[in-house]
This record gives sequence, C-alpha cells and structure tokens, in this order.
Amino acid sequence: MNIVLFGPPGVGKGTQGVRLAERFSIVHLAMGDLLRKAVKDKSELGVQARSYMDAGKLVPDDVVIGMIEERIISKDVSNGFLLDGFPRNVAQATALNAMLLKHELNIDHVIFMEAEETCLIERLSGRLICKGCGFGFHRQYSPPEKDGCCDRCGSELYQRDDDRKDVIEKRLKVYLKETQPLLDFYSDLDVFSKVDATKSMGEVFHTLEKSVQG
Ligand code: AP5
Repeated sequence: MNIVLFGPPGVGKGTQGVRLAERFSIVHLAMGDLLRKAVKDKSELGVQARSYMDAGKLVPDDVVIGMIEERIISKDVSNGFLLDGFPRNVAQATALNAMLLKHELNIDHVIFMEAEETCLIERLSGRLICKGCGFGFHRQYSPPEKDGCCDRCGSELYQRDDDRKDVIEKRLKVYLKETQPLLDFYSDLDVFSKVDATKSMGEVFHTLEKSVQG
C-alpha cells in the first residue's frame, strides 16, 4: 500500500505518519527527515539544502525528486510507503506521477490533513525532537516523562532551528503559495480524502486509520 500524506507545517504529518506506517507495515518516508540527515552528515546535498531549510524555503525540486525516487524503489520499501512532506508543490506532484508510472507503482490514498494557523503555530513552537531517534514530542500535548529526555531512547531533546517564530511564519507563507495548490491537483481523485487534524492525536489517528481501511 502506498500513501501520500500532505498538509501544512505542524499539522501532525510526522506524528501520524510514523504511527500509520507502523500500523500498515509500510515505510515512513519523511522528506524533512531525509534532508535533516543529509545536513547532519554534511553531505554535499546536505550542505546545499541547509540554507533553504534554515530560511524556511523549499529545497530545489531536482534535489528532492531524486532523493524520493531512490527511496521508493529501494528493496526495503517493497511492501509500500507513506510519503510525508513530498510532494510539496505541483512540479513535484507531476514528477511523482511520472516516477510511479515508470516504476509501475500506484498511490492508494492521498490524505490532506487540515488545521487552522493558530493551531499550527502552537504545535510548531512547542515541538521537541529527539537527537537520537528523531521521535517528536510537544511541551504541552505530549511531554516526555523526564524533562529534556526521550522516552524511547533516552537521548537529549532539542528544538528544530526552523521552529523559531520568524521561520515558522515564512514556512506558512511558502505552504500557502506552493503546497496548498496541491488540493486542486488531488481533490478530484477517488483516492483523495481530507482529515480534520485539530482533534487529539488519538482521534486523528483513528480517523486516518478508517480512511485508509475504507
Ligand atoms: P518538514 O520536516 O517536512 O517540515 P514541515 O512540512 O514543515 O512539517 P513539520 O515536520 O514541521 O510538521 P508535521 O506536520 O510533521 O508536524 P508534527 O507531526 O511534527 O520539512 C522541513 C523543511 O525541509 C522544509 O521547510 C523545506 O525546507 C524542506 N523540505 C521538506 N520537504 C521538501 C520538499 N518536498 N521540497 C522541498 N523542500 C522540502 O507535529 C508538530 C507538533 O505538534 C509536534 O510537537 C507534535 O507532538 C504536535 N502534535 C501533532 N499532532 C497533534 C495533535 N493532534 N494534538 C496536539 N499536538 C499535536
């Protein structure tokens, strides 16, 4: 099974993407995580991507399209994938369609997660990420048991550089201009559905699970 999960920054794509992928035994492919790993490893691509990410801008299409194609045809992804954060504009969605055709793959579900701006800002500004395993927490909504420490692997928690107020504002603007048009691109498809992401994490998961099960 192959799923595309899209929506604004902070709507909960990563939170739900991890859980849905586990639930349906598919691989969670989060573009942001792939890029942050490249930045951490100081690869050529990571060095190139960093300045865009720190400024809240999109990394150039050719970079991210190549990275995703490499992953969706990998052996470990043969049972299916959940794309989180890709595509993020119409050019990437068109490239995704072309690569699916080329590799004889289909998308079974395209799910849009929706929430208003105040909710997104609150979620992004309170987010904490584990330095070790990348698991996400929230100061208020899903705090770790021990302050500053990951419940899963015990590593230190940090705030993402792009979760500063000025960068959040920029990311939301980029989302409206670049990613929101994907609603027109996908909304007429039979595989499209929309989920209210303002509810609790458990409720949102339940709704997503139901829309995947049909
Ligand atoms: P990326 O990492 O993909 O960032 P994003 O899309 O902005 O999304 P986020 O990761 O910020 O939010 P999320 O929706 O996953 O929310 P989360 O689950 O963490 O991309 C980062 C950058 O990489 C981009 O700005 C760009 O530069 C580059 N990039 C990535 N993809 C690209 C592409 N395709 N093309 C070009 N450039 C690209 O939740 C947020 C917080 O809310 C957490 O603290 C969580 O605990 C909490 N939370 C979640 N759900 C709930 C709930 N239901 N109730 C209460 N709290 C909740």
